[in-house]
Amino acid sequence: MNKNIVCIGAGYIGGPTMAVIAKMNPDRKVMVVDINAERIAAWNSEDYSLPIYEPGLVDVVKEVRGKNLFFSTDIEGAVKECDIIFVGVNTPTKMFGKGAGRASDLQYWEATAREIKRFAENDKIIVEKSTLPVRTAAAMEAILNDHAEYRFTVLSNPEFLAEGTAIKDLLEPDRVLIGGPQAECGLCAIQEVVDIYAAWVAKEKILTTNVWSAELTKLAANAFLAQRVSSINAIAGLCEATGADVDEVARVVGADKRIGPKFLKAGPGFGGSCFKKDVLNLVYLCESFGLHTAAEYWMGVIKMNDHQQERIVSRLFKEMFNTLANKKVALFGFAFKADTGDTRETPAGTVARLLADEHVRITITDPKALSNAKHDLSDIGDVVYEEDEYRAANGADAIVLMTDWRHYPTLDWQKIYDSMRKPALVFDTRNCLDAEQLRKIGFKVLNVGK
Ligand code: NAD
Ligand code: UDX
Repeated sequence: MNKNIVCIGAGYIGGPTMAVIAKMNPDRKVMVVDINAERIAAWNSEDYSLPIYEPGLVDVVKEVRGKNLFFSTDIEGAVKECDIIFVGVNTPTKMFGKGAGRASDLQYWEATAREIKRFAENDKIIVEKSTLPVRTAAAMEAILNDHAEYRFTVLSNPEFLAEGTAIKDLLEPDRVLIGGPQAECGLCAIQEVVDIYAAWVAKEKILTTNVWSAELTKLAANAFLAQRVSSINAIAGLCEATGADVDEVARVVGADKRIGPKFLKAGPGFGGSCFKKDVLNLVYLCESFGLHTAAEYWMGVIKMNDHQQERIVSRLFKEMFNTLANKKVALFGFAFKADTGDTRETPAGTVARLLADEHVRITITDPKALSNAKHDLSDIGDVVYEEDEYRAANGADAIVLMTDWRHYPTLDWQKIYDSMRKPALVFDTRNCLDAEQLRKIGFKVLNVGK
């Protein structure tokens, strides 16, 4: 009989992942539980105003919620009822004590492990879905199996989905990774989790490893992707200084099959909840094992990224006659990338703060992230939030495009130009607008890496 599944943590990972697992495993009961009652209420809302925006998510939730997918705050009941327990709670960067600013804060993970142990009434398979430092599974197993009545087998099944494309990534993954103990009980547990994914993922794409490899692979994969973004942004600065064009350089570099074209888009730097946190975590791990040169290498990826936003504001400062005080700047886009309302570690947040330091009058517009923006910037006063792009641009001295929302190139830029103070500047940090057309209208145009 197919075992019931529960995921503890109903966030960006838990919600979409379990919705797709439920859709593709109609014979299994899938539960998602969380301590955050407001979040659960939103997942259960009648009008489907779900707590996160993700293209295609509402359709999947409509299809399975109430049939074999259930959202609840009853963690005790769900742990008792389910034999396979995914843990997708948050693991932010630790901001205190040992490892502050680098290590993962594992307090939510440990609290979950202790809850599972308290409520369990039979053997369980525990699946790490959160991104965790290498050897976390050993610590979890120690907590769970210490004087335990039941056996807990801990596996690692890190998630590779990206926000904005989560449903597509889940339905058509490049690979699924399941790490587990290589002893007999571990191999059986791995097979149980393989069976869940085998309902729709081709067998050759389901890769199994030992637990430590799985935990480290997730950090390594994100570090490699982040490193590519920092590498192209490092080249962008050089392009600006020399007259080269970063998009041309990226196109030709990426045409080499050994390198490939993806993740070579210069821009305002990477954001999102994962890259910075996971690279910092890798830095901390390297330091902990005395690998200081490796730690410095990965730290360079973060330094380069922070530098990118400082460079954007410095260029704006220079182009606007070395004074920004009291000028109006409209930020177009606040989400860390298009197709999400998520603003965690968004480069737009850093740019907004740097502009606030210069006493700029800031207006922010974003189709999905305005409420998060308000929350993130609540400590800096006098920011105006506008849903309508034309109102946001009205009277502005400059527009800084921070997020590559698909409709931005199709706005009426003549109308925007007419309503702005002259000279009107557009700093397109995503290089997604037609610069030639903007120049013809009369804009002064800045790009990254050009
Ligand atoms: P999130 O903050 O959106 O969701 C985490 C949820 O866990 C929250 O709703 C929180 O209330 C809940 N929670 C915390 N402690 C709990 C407890 N003791 N019992 C029950 N619920 C509890 O975080 P997220 O973005 O979904 O990330 C979760 C993990 O997945 C992180 O480790 C992250 O690195 C990893 N991950 C995230 C992404 C992504 O795109 N967001 C991608 C891959 C991996
Ligand atoms: C990332 C990983 O891609 C995903 O596999 C992992 O599970 C979670 O972390 P995510 O952060 O959601 O996903 O989005 P991603 O598409 O990777 O973009 C991250 C950041 O890099 C964004 O701010 C994006 O704008 C930026 N980026 C990406 C670039 O600046 N240039 C690029 O070429 C690609």
